[in-house]
Amino acid sequence: MQGQDAIIALAEELAAATRIALFTGAGISTESGIPDFRGPGGLWSRNKPINFNDFIRSEAMRREAWRRKFATEATLRAARPNRGHRACAHLVAHGRAGAVITQNIDGLHQDSGIPDAQVIEVHGNATYAHCLDCRTRYELAAIRVDFERDGSLPHCRWCNGIVKTATVSFGQAMPVAEMRRAEAETLAADLFVVLGSSLVVYPAAGLPVLAKRNGARLVIVNREPTEMDELADLVIHDGIGDILGGALNLP
Ligand code: APR
Ligand code: ZN
Repeated sequence: MQGQDAIIALAEELAAATRIALFTGAGISTESGIPDFRGPGGLWSRNKPINFNDFIRSEAMRREAWRRKFATEATLRAARPNRGHRACAHLVAHGRAGAVITQNIDGLHQDSGIPDAQVIEVHGNATYAHCLDCRTRYELAAIRVDFERDGSLPHCRWCNGIVKTATVSFGQAMPVAEMRRAEAETLAADLFVVLGSSLVVYPAAGLPVLAKRNGARLVIVNREPTEMDELADLVIHDGIGDILGGALNLP
């Protein structure tokens, strides 16, 4: 479904729901200029993901990971929340959604005004770094100065551990507390809305299945078909900003 029919159908689902779980992927940030991973021209069509074990084992892989990170930094910093983010913030602010469960690491849900406590980042956050051993936080600007001066890689000044952006890479353990909160939000909802995800990365992609098994209605808003479309009560293959913004009558 697309266009005006989709807007009306989504508005009806939102109006009928008691508690909404919002689940976002990279697709909600493309309208802010941040490329997604698996859509047309997405990041994984140009780069192979760097697996966590390779990052740990190889200085060369760590150097490549930091090179990519700083190459995308300008795009991340220039990005502003779009109509889709504002629509999510509207649902949270009006108590219709308890939180946003996001796979994104760009911080745009927080920038749209949703309190940190109501953004559940199941794949971490790319706006800062931390020590993999003692979790000490490190700011990217200082790391970038050293890296761009002589390619030096950041180490923890307290325990000499490896420092990495606070994101969850393939092969890295998921954040337990965030996943627990995401499951609780999913089980508390009678409507689960997927916004801009290809739904191929587990365990996060298991959340819409959990919602469905728990008796919630499932809506998927995604430009392209996903592997879970046949599970959903409503599938909309259209742009999130127009569809969700339109369903909420937001500018
Ligand atoms: N409106 C609706 N859908 C969109 C839009 C848009 N404006 N822009 C892109 N999409 C869709 C794409 O068609 C694509 O199917 O969003 C989907 C994004 O899918 P992915 O790129 O796979 O992103 P995501 O599902 O978030 O990836 C999950 O994979 O690489 C890891 O850790 C990374 O969190 C990420 C995880
Ligand atoms: Zn440390």
